[in-house]
Amino acid sequence: MEPIRAREAPLEVRHSAGAYEVRFETLAEALQGLPERSFAITDDNVRAAWGRKLPAGWSVRSVPPGEASKSLERLGECLSWLARSGADRQSTLVAFGGGVVGDLAGFAAAAYMRGIRLVQMPTSLLAQVDSSVGGKVAVDLPEGKNLAGAFYPPASVHICIETLSTLPWREFVNGMAEVWKYGFILDAELARAMRHLELQPDSPRLPSIVRRCVELKAAIVEEDEHDTSGRRAILNFGHTVGHALERVTEYGALHGEAVAVGMAVEARLGELLGVSEKGTAEEVESTLEYAGLPIRHEALSHPDLVPAMLGDKKTERGELAFSLLTKVGECKLVRAVPRAEVEAALRAL
Ligand SMILES: NC(=O)c1ccc[n+]([C@@H]2O[C@H](COP(=O)([O-])OP(=O)(O)OC[C@H]3O[C@@H](n4cnc5c(N)ncnc54)[C@H](O)[C@@H]3O)[C@@H](O)[C@H]2O)c1
Ligand SMILES: [Zn+2]
Repeated sequence: MEPIRAREAPLEVRHSAGAYEVRFETLAEALQGLPERSFAITDDNVRAAWGRKLPAGWSVRSVPPGEASKSLERLGECLSWLARSGADRQSTLVAFGGGVVGDLAGFAAAAYMRGIRLVQMPTSLLAQVDSSVGGKVAVDLPEGKNLAGAFYPPASVHICIETLSTLPWREFVNGMAEVWKYGFILDAELARAMRHLELQPDSPRLPSIVRRCVELKAAIVEEDEHDTSGRRAILNFGHTVGHALERVTEYGALHGEAVAVGMAVEARLGELLGVSEKGTAEEVESTLEYAGLPIRHEALSHPDLVPAMLGDKKTERGELAFSLLTKVGECKLVRAVPRAEVEAALRAL
């Protein structure tokens, strides 16, 4: 993987209603290409770090940072703000922030006047490699995460690596968990290349790694835009356990941390079921530890953990389904996994 060139060609992502570009640019280049009188939703941290760079003619709304802003209440406030600020059907709404802002602003764009132009400008590593691409937008309900949402592809995605320079380190490592996930499930070369890099927000190799992740995600969502065939579900490696861990710890663990522990457990599960080559789990665990990510959590023995997995959106008819590695760089969706095997994998760590 070569370091990215300044004007590398954008990636095109096709979907049922057309296509959009993912552009890799500086913030100045990205802003130049957008309408002078755009609307933007951001959060207070991103606004403090980057807000002064936004064009003077834009209307900007900031929400408090954190998952709690992915609520119906904030969504309603954003929609009212658009109406009061004079947004019309020709307006562009820019989601300028991490995955929380992307999901919230994305849903606002989908709902306002039955849909206005959405531009994703992800500023966290997680949002750049994952949530800004693929068209899923949502808010949480008191009953659960992402329960109200839509498939709403953006008009364009602008990835400005420089914005990561102000991202807190813990959030950067959090995003790295998803980067490792792409390596484990789809790209052994990526996983092995990363073992020799100590990635930081200003690493010269980071842009090419982000781009590779976006390529991998785009290819999967093109095959299964609406998450119906099972293809898109392979992206859930580490997430069946990870989501359950997030729930039983009441979101005390960051998403990437929970997913890292989940990947360690699910790699063990793959070996126990005879789905993965011997040694896969050990490679996953040592890699995650090397990257500074957790592979164990005290809540792995929590009695509500397996019941929480059974409540996962990916669960069908009370059966546990997992995206499991066949080896590093390859995976498949395995349905009807016996509960006893899951419990054995949890005990193994
Ligand atoms: N739509 C999808 O396909 C999809 C996929 C994965 C995750 N998600 C969602 O994404 C969300 C998590 O995203 P996240 O990890 O980006 O969380 P986040 O949006 O809360 O951002 C993490 C933290 O970093 C701060 N931040 C972001 N960019 C910054 C910057 N450049 N400088 C300084 N601080 C910055 C934010 O203010 C926040 O405090 C979850 O709600 C999850 O459900 C959606
Ligand atoms: Zn994730």
